[in-house]
Amino acid sequence: MNILILGPGAVGSLWATKFQLAGHHVSLWGRTSESELSLQLDDAPLTTYSNQSISSLQEADLILITVKAWQVESAIEPLLPHINADTIVMLMHNGMGTAEWLESKLSDNPIVIATTTHGAYKPTKQHVLHTGHGYTQVGGFNAKGAKCEFLQDVMNHALPSVNWNPNIHSALWTKLAINCAINPLTAIHQCKNGDLAAEQYSSLLEAITHELVEVMNKEAIVTDFDTLHRTIMQVVNATAANYSSMRQDVFHKRRTEIDFITGYLLQAAKKHQINTPENAKLYQCLKQIEQSWTEQ
Ligand code: PAF
Repeated sequence: MNILILGPGAVGSLWATKFQLAGHHVSLWGRTSESELSLQLDDAPLTTYSNQSISSLQEADLILITVKAWQVESAIEPLLPHINADTIVMLMHNGMGTAEWLESKLSDNPIVIATTTHGAYKPTKQHVLHTGHGYTQVGGFNAKGAKCEFLQDVMNHALPSVNWNPNIHSALWTKLAINCAINPLTAIHQCKNGDLAAEQYSSLLEAITHELVEVMNKEAIVTDFDTLHRTIMQVVNATAANYSSMRQDVFHKRRTEIDFITGYLLQAAKKHQINTPENAKLYQCLKQIEQSWTEQ
């Protein structure tokens, strides 16, 4: 397939190199205007990809968007006139709320959403490390996207394991809940994910989870407190030594994904008239942290 990766950060570069090694024709669309970019996955050979090539964009069978949620609109807007109506457009990022906008702009295209637990890290511009083996769930967002089940095989061949999930909405909500619980707290306290297993966070994590369950149930997501709490604590333990993406963003004073994580939850809570004071406090705290950088 002709695959274009929009946003070759750590996760985008991981998929670019894996698709290339699986035999696909891969091109990149990064922020720099260089016509070529090179990437090396772990110890594999360095490979060169075309960058910002309009013809590659026009000929893409699949555009995989791996920019952060808050960058989706500004990254895709200038490319819209060049995207073929047959091109499958796939979103892969933390948080929710961008697919609705994408569909309003590309209503004729198949739109697919993916969520992944693979860990990747780019120590340099060219080098990408696959730091944690995870899995990926993919599903259709619109009717045409729902017919793209074949992507499971394509992606599974490149970077297993991949499951086509007809109920991707539910998977995205579960991932959102995990991010609502882990990301703001680790960012505020500048701690590792595993530190949240300490006694000092247990009642707060429970309160956050109760609020999440109430909103998710109203959104028709089947879950309960015990199930969601167990899932969150499993991720806390499985990624104990990691810093969350939001902790890293705050550490480097980069804009965080809070609007598309806790912000999305708060919007849904408002719609259903549910009180979510603990999540609201975390949201306010993160916004204050971000605000303090612009005031400096
Ligand atoms: O955003 C992140 O860092 C990850 O989604 C997760 C699951 C919280 C692990 O660090």
